[in-house]
Amino acid sequence: MRLLILGGSWFLGRSIAEVALADGWQVSTFNRGTHPDLPEVDAVHGDRTSVEDFRRLASHGPWDAVIDCIAFTPRDTYRGALALAPVVGHYVVMSTVNAYTGWPDLPLSENSARYECPVDADADYAAEHGELIQYGTLKAGCEQAVRQAIGDERTTVLRPGVILGPHEYVGRLPWWLLRAAAGGQMLAPAPADRPIQPIDARDLAAFALRCARQRIAGDINVTAPIGHASFADLVDACAEVTAAGAEPVWVDPTWLAQQGVGEWTELPLWRTRAGVWNVDSSRAQAAGLTCRPLRETVADTWSWMTGGGEAVKEEQGEAARAAEHGLSAEREAALLDRWRQLR
Ligand SMILES: NC(=O)c1ccc[n+]([C@@H]2O[C@H](COP(=O)([O-])OP(=O)(O)OC[C@H]3O[C@@H](n4cnc5c(N)ncnc54)[C@H](OP(=O)(O)O)[C@@H]3O)[C@@H](O)[C@H]2O)c1
Repeated sequence: MRLLILGGSWFLGRSIAEVALADGWQVSTFNRGTHPDLPEVDAVHGDRTSVEDFRRLASHGPWDAVIDCIAFTPRDTYRGALALAPVVGHYVVMSTVNAYTGWPDLPLSENSARYECPVDADADYAAEHGELIQYGTLKAGCEQAVRQAIGDERTTVLRPGVILGPHEYVGRLPWWLLRAAAGGQMLAPAPADRPIQPIDARDLAAFALRCARQRIAGDINVTAPIGHASFADLVDACAEVTAAGAEPVWVDPTWLAQQGVGEWTELPLWRTRAGVWNVDSSRAQAAGLTCRPLRETVADTWSWMTGGGEAVKEEQGEAARAAEHGLSAEREAALLDRWRQLR
């Protein structure tokens, strides 16, 4: 079986390439070449914004399936998908739960409302909205772009929530791991039993390949099941694998909000809105998604980090997100002092 991955050299795309190679696929990747590709792939370098580059890419086909990890603007996605339509059997596009208008406030299923976005929208479309809404709007447009270019029966739209695991360049789990590795009393947002649903990039990769191989068409949320893990599972696993004696201090979330602690950023993965971790992914589970325990994701990410892996830094360009994440040690200490005085 021949597979094309659009992207394929960073976090998720790289996981897909690794899992596919181990599964016997013959893999091509398409990206600009700013990160090394896996040595075993047929790497084609080009830019997703260039129709010419997509035509050149198409000449390397045909493929049984493509998994598109770089669908960010509908217009580019539409043009790229049109160029690939004659040379791919099945098209899996990586979207996100942000495509739902109800995220992060409402429980979500595949039937929930999504943003409207024309298939010729470019990066400036919806610029008047906040960044997260713009991202979701454009992703909804990308979904529609693929459906229109390829046809519903040959298209799978996957909507993951948060993705974690080795090679996570965004910096969410890496921040918690580095914090735990510093030891001491560690601020943690109560309640400890808050359910969370991150998915391991390798489990998402295996599921995307399953959809590609079996040509499972349609829209599918791809998160860990509700109840698969809690915030305490995350924090405790970070403390355990870093083995520096970090002790979580569970702090009231309303008080944290009063102190201006930024949800999602200052304390990565912490968000109190009702829909964030309330995504129904039973369709994915029925289609064969399996999710490893969160502890394994945490342990493997720590192994990657202790082997030299790290989140992408500012000087490494546009993908850098690590600076958005985390509390400084001074701010955390001041918050913990104030919290203790209240007790
Ligand atoms: N990270 C999350 O938690 C999360 C959650 C939900 C959904 N998603 C979705 O999952 C997908 C994959 O996310 P990821 O962050 O793991 O990405 P990825 O596929 O691992 O990395 C991005 C890839 O795209 C390539 N790329 C970027 N800009 C390009 C361009 N202009 N032309 C050609 N190639 C380009 C990069 O290589 P070069 O820079 O060398 O070009 C890299 O190979 C995305 O569609 C994202 O929306 C992510």
